[in-house]
Amino acid sequence: MWPAAEFGDAWADVYDAVFADLDTDAEHAVAALSTDLADGAGVLELGVGTGRLAIPLAATGLHVTGVDSSARMLAGLAAKAGGDAVRGVLGDMVDPPVEGPFDLVLIAFNTLFALPDQDRQVACVGAAARGLADGGRLVVEAAVPQPWRFADGDHDPVTQTVRSVRVVPDDTGVRTLPLNMRYAWPSEVDLMARLAGLSRVRRSGGWAGEPFDDLSTRHVTTYRKDPTT
Ligand SMILES: C[S@@+](CC[C@H](N)C(=O)[O-])C[C@H]1O[C@@H](n2cnc3c(N)ncnc32)[C@H](O)[C@@H]1O
Repeated sequence: MWPAAEFGDAWADVYDAVFADLDTDAEHAVAALSTDLADGAGVLELGVGTGRLAIPLAATGLHVTGVDSSARMLAGLAAKAGGDAVRGVLGDMVDPPVEGPFDLVLIAFNTLFALPDQDRQVACVGAAARGLADGGRLVVEAAVPQPWRFADGDHDPVTQTVRSVRVVPDDTGVRTLPLNMRYAWPSEVDLMARLAGLSRVRRSGGWAGEPFDDLSTRHVTTYRKDPTT
């Protein structure tokens, strides 16, 4: 198991530079996420990071709250242009310290896999569901696991964990940053959602609505909390 703040505290000052090439993907994500939401709708992003998605979402007129376990990531969010439009909350997404209901809960960019075991992932999806208004949606973006690519890391196929590092350039040369995950197949994420009382309404292979098929390397899946009668 790894500490909840380990990733964010290690990555905070290089995160935006390392993932700068995802700008177009973020534009597609914001367009897809904001389409069905009324102006002023409430959005909760779990593992908000430096606001790569939350800041442009807030700029569309949504009320965005972001929970993150890393104070350093949240400081990065607050320091960015438009960051003050996102309410950043320090906390664990297994039990996010925020009050709903939200119209949309977002768990993007493999952030569900940052939780180190199945119990925590199930609890996180459960908390997301509890935070939703009736008819509200949970959107999960996550990789389709490719175990044959885990050869460079310390891979345990039983617990579905991979512990590895990423080497990134910095001012002094290079830095080695932790990149640990507990992966889950799309079907397992569906099951977590079902346990939480959510039904799947859509699955794409990316934010631009790409079809999801056997060649997809990620999925963007929308689940709905059906209104109680
Ligand atoms: C891969 S980054 C994604 C950040 C952002 N959602 C994005 O799309 O750029 C994962 C984020 O989840 C946060 N995180 C990891 N474990 C967490 C936990 N248990 N509770 C809350 N946040 C967590 C990290 O600090 C980091 O900011």
